[in-house]
Amino acid sequence: MKYMGSKARFAKDLLPIILKDRKENQAYLEPFAGGMNMIDKVDGLRTANDQHEELMAMWQALIHENWDPPQSVSEEEYKHIKYNQDQYPKHLVSYVGFNSFGGKWFAGYRRDKEGKRDYWGEHYRNITKQVPKLEGIILSCKSYTELVIPEKSIIYCDPPYESTTKYRDGFNHEQFWEWCRQQSKAGHQVFISEYNAPDDFKCVWEKPAKTTFSWHAKNLAPKVALERLFVFEG
Ligand SMILES: C[S@@+](CC[C@H](N)C(=O)[O-])C[C@H]1O[C@@H](n2cnc3c(N)ncnc32)[C@H](O)[C@@H]1O
Repeated sequence: MKYMGSKARFAKDLLPIILKDRKENQAYLEPFAGGMNMIDKVDGLRTANDQHEELMAMWQALIHENWDPPQSVSEEEYKHIKYNQDQYPKHLVSYVGFNSFGGKWFAGYRRDKEGKRDYWGEHYRNITKQVPKLEGIILSCKSYTELVIPEKSIIYCDPPYESTTKYRDGFNHEQFWEWCRQQSKAGHQVFISEYNAPDDFKCVWEKPAKTTFSWHAKNLAPKVALERLFVFEG
């Protein structure tokens, strides 16, 4: 699924590192699963959490309730859903809201001036292709701070990055890094995607990556950032 901050293009690099020492039946957890673009490539016991209510309602309907989403939505319908969200089921609001410019929540109806691209068809195919890969997954919708985590889990964190486009709730980065320290000390294997981390975290992988302007302050041209993976060093 096209999603703001998707890690789809890095999954091939990151997952071999994250899963390297995974034991049989060891739980894998993503507290910030978003568009499921990493966890859809992990098998076995796995939990996807995200605090975005509509998003998780959509995954629930698609994966566990066989919901077949619409293959096209007109601009008029898009706008009506955007401004009257409480009149529609949450899973539909999410499906429509995320098929927006940059995969960003209701950021504008995607329209190809030349009429060549079928954005709704792409959205439908992207999402329905993921669904079989997510069979059996445990879904959870809460803040990462409230998660109850099985012993010795592998935890992959892809939080909202510091100084990038804000998600709809403010995010306390200091509290997040402290939570990662605590989970590592509790015996979990914790991996974090970010551009930078506090000094007691070690970078185990990095790669230059183009970021789109939607991630940065307005009027900045696309630029290259170093995408990194960190672990707590203690
Ligand atoms: C960078 S995105 C994850 C993208 C995902 N890895 C992918 O490849 O599609 C970050 C996610 O964190 C979620 N989020 C933000 N604050 C959160 C919190 N306190 N607890 C749980 N999820 C949160 C957002 O809703 C968003 O989906």
